[in-house]
Amino acid sequence: MYESLLKHIAKYLNQSQDPQTALEWVCAEIQQKLPSYDWVGFYFHKIEKKELHLKAFAGKPTDHIVIPFGKGICGQVALSNQKFVVDDVSEQDNYIACSIDVKSEIVVPLFMEGKNVGQIDIDSNTTRAFDKNDEVFLAEVNQRVATYLLRSKMNF
Ligand code: SME
Repeated sequence: MYESLLKHIAKYLNQSQDPQTALEWVCAEIQQKLPSYDWVGFYFHKIEKKELHLKAFAGKPTDHIVIPFGKGICGQVALSNQKFVVDDVSEQDNYIACSIDVKSEIVVPLFMEGKNVGQIDIDSNTTRAFDKNDEVFLAEVNQRVATYLLRSKMNF
């Protein structure tokens, strides 16, 4: 599944002209194809404000459009440059709840030319929804998106 989905995403990005549409398409595609991916979003760094800004998502609208660096799982990843897998969100102290339905979460940083510039964030309504395969898959998605954004000369 992950392999064919990656190929499909790569093919789409190859012919896509508009970065905003492309990011929204990638979110929707992943959310629709993978049953445990209930919410999918891309946050990008607003470095001068030390904030993450939500640029595209699929799933229920969230109030958390802007997240300060250090706050929640997303904010921690902005500072650590490391992926963060949460099997059970109820066990996290530094966590921002988007919905009471969410049980587990994975956040994988997105690097452009070696710099952490954003992240993909997935919420699941199932506990322990994410494993190593998801980490690898999402890092691959981010790599393709980063290459695409560099090619599109998009500056977030
Ligand atoms: N749960 C995240 C906040 C973003 S929402 O999941 C959309 C966090 O703790 O950073």
